[in-house]
Amino acid sequence: MLRSMKIVEEIEGSGGLGGVARMTEVIAALEYRRTELIEQLRSQRLASWEEIGQACGMTRQGASRRWSRQAQATSFGDAAAAYRRGRPPYPESAVDWLVPGTARSVLDLGAGTGKLTQLLVARGLDVIAVEPLAPMREELIAAVPQADVRDGSAEAIPLEDGAVDAVVVAQAWHWFDAAKALPEIARVLTPGGTLGLVWNVRDHSVPWVAELDRVLHRHTRVEIDSSPSIGTPFREVERLDVRWEHALTRAELLDLVASRSYVITMPAADRDELMHQVGELLDSHLDLRGRKKLTMPYLTRCTRAQLAS
Ligand SMILES: C[S@@+](CC[C@H](N)C(=O)[O-])C[C@H]1O[C@@H](n2cnc3c(N)ncnc32)[C@H](O)[C@@H]1O
Repeated sequence: MLRSMKIVEEIEGSGGLGGVARMTEVIAALEYRRTELIEQLRSQRLASWEEIGQACGMTRQGASRRWSRQAQATSFGDAAAAYRRGRPPYPESAVDWLVPGTARSVLDLGAGTGKLTQLLVARGLDVIAVEPLAPMREELIAAVPQADVRDGSAEAIPLEDGAVDAVVVAQAWHWFDAAKALPEIARVLTPGGTLGLVWNVRDHSVPWVAELDRVLHRHTRVEIDSSPSIGTPFREVERLDVRWEHALTRAELLDLVASRSYVITMPAADRDELMHQVGELLDSHLDLRGRKKLTMPYLTRCTRAQLAS
C-alpha cells in the first residue's frame, strides 16, 4: 500500500488539472495492460477465472463476464434495441464492392439487427441472414421481414453446400473462430463465390472522436484487426477503405456507446460512470455542445476474397 501511495504521489506531481490528466492517462495504460495480461493468462491456460477474479478484487463471474471473448461475443443480446438505434449502416459504395454484380443470393453472417441485411434486401438480392442470438434475431426480423432469418453460427452454418454466391460479414469476423468458420463459408459458397468482410471504424483524426475514444478506452480496450488475412481456400485478399459520415442524435450516440460489447459486459457502476462521462463530453466539447444533430466520421474498411475454384 505504501509503495502504491508513493507511485500515486509521483504521478500526481504538483496536483491540479495536470495531475488529474496524468492520472487519467496512467489509469488507461494500466487498464489496457491488465486486459493484455489477462488475455495471455487465459490463452496459455495459466490462470482460472476464479484466480483472475481474486487478483482483480472481483467474483469469478464478474471477471469472466468482463474479459472472456465468449461472454463478449454473446453480450449483444442484452443491448439489441440500443444496437439497432445507435449503430451506423454501411456506405452503398462499400456494399457495391463487397457483393459482386453477378451475385443473386447472399448470406449475411452474424447479421445482428440487420444493419447490412437491409441494404442487401434493398438491392433485390435473395438474402439469408444467420445470427446466433435470439434478441438480435427478433430485431432483425422486425426490421427486415423480407430476409430469410436463421439461427446459426459461422462455425456451423445452417445452409446446404454451394447455397450462396456471396457471404458478407459486417463488424463480426473478429468474433468468429476463423479456423472453423472459413471451411464452413467455403462449403456454402458456389465455386468462385466471394467472401466480404467490413468494419465501420470511427475516424480518430477528428478531435472530438479522439476525445470520445479516450473516454471509452479509459475503462477498457478491444483491439480489432480490420484488415485481416483470409487464406486457403480463398485467393488473395483485396482491400477498400471508404470515408463517410453518419448523422445521429445525442441519444443515438449514447446508444452507440451502450451497444459496445465491452460496455455491455462492464460492472454496472463502471458502465454508469462511463455513460456519465460521455454525456459530459457531449455537453462540454466545443464541437458538440448544444447540437441536436451530430456527425460521426467513419472509415469503412472492406476486405474481399474469391473462393479458389
Ligand atoms: C457487432 S455485431 C454486428 C452485427 C451486424 N452484422 C451489423 O453489422 O450491425 C456482431 C454480431 O456477431 C454475432 N456473432 C458473434 N459470434 C458469432 C459467431 N460465432 N457466428 C455468427 N455470429 C456471431 C453477434 O451475435 C452479433 O450479432
